[in-house]
Amino acid sequence: MYQDLVVGFAQIGAESEWRTANTRSIQDTAIRLGVELKFADGQQQQENQIKQIRSFIAQRVDVIGVSPVVETGWDAVFSEVKQAGIPLILLDRHADVSDDLFSAFIGSDFVLEGQRACVEMAKLLDGQGNIVVLEGTAGSAPTVDRRAGFESCLHQRPGMQVIARQYGDFIRARGKEVMKTFLQTYGSQIDALFAQNDDMALGAIEAIEEYGLRPGVDIKIVSVDAVRGAFEAMLAGKLNATIECNPLLGPQFFETALKLANGDPVQKWVKSDEGIFRQDTAAQELPKRKY
Ligand code: AHR
Repeated sequence: MYQDLVVGFAQIGAESEWRTANTRSIQDTAIRLGVELKFADGQQQQENQIKQIRSFIAQRVDVIGVSPVVETGWDAVFSEVKQAGIPLILLDRHADVSDDLFSAFIGSDFVLEGQRACVEMAKLLDGQGNIVVLEGTAGSAPTVDRRAGFESCLHQRPGMQVIARQYGDFIRARGKEVMKTFLQTYGSQIDALFAQNDDMALGAIEAIEEYGLRPGVDIKIVSVDAVRGAFEAMLAGKLNATIECNPLLGPQFFETALKLANGDPVQKWVKSDEGIFRQDTAAQELPKRKY
């Protein structure tokens, strides 16, 4: 029964519109189901998340969930969770650990998202052009995998090349700051921007306008997440496409947590089903967006 379940969740922080929607989905679902949720905000620091997981173990919660801020460095604390006999769910971001250290991963295929972004970019550029890339948090699963997916597709398109890449931590203000430096160095040589999330793309759009170029026209832009702000930017013609990454993972999270608490079998990877959105459908899609 959901009402008997006590779940600890170690969130990354509040770096983006996506993350805010993800947190809301987890908290709202817990309230709706009557689950007791112990929610902790890691403020982008792995050491905070590790401490929070240890505190969940000490409190003997039924199930622990974590969205790991980076991929590596989890073996010790995940082993402690295992020794305590508490099921562990990785939500949204996976970690670089052996499969026996967690019970389930619920989230997106980030490699596929990177590939999809590159295919969209190739259409927009007709296969030719200089690309700059705004990457997320160094060492995080979406940063590593979206880069891998984007690069694997780029290898088959010799006319398109990445001329600069830099981390923007999935934060809008950082996206703007880094885009400014790209523009100072490369100016109108830049044909396109791949931003690993919408927030950084929205920041970069401001930088491009301040520089005197037209985002979405002079510099084509593809990003990831599909948050409302991205649809508004597409409607204004400033963003060309966004690759969906679903943050509304609360229902699957608690459904999986209940099964694990009851000793029922669960899927090892509960994969999100996601789409691609472009300017031509932005107006009809925007009213349907839930985040
Ligand atoms: O892990 C998912 C990523 O984290 C989202 O793409 C980004 O917006 C968020 O901060």
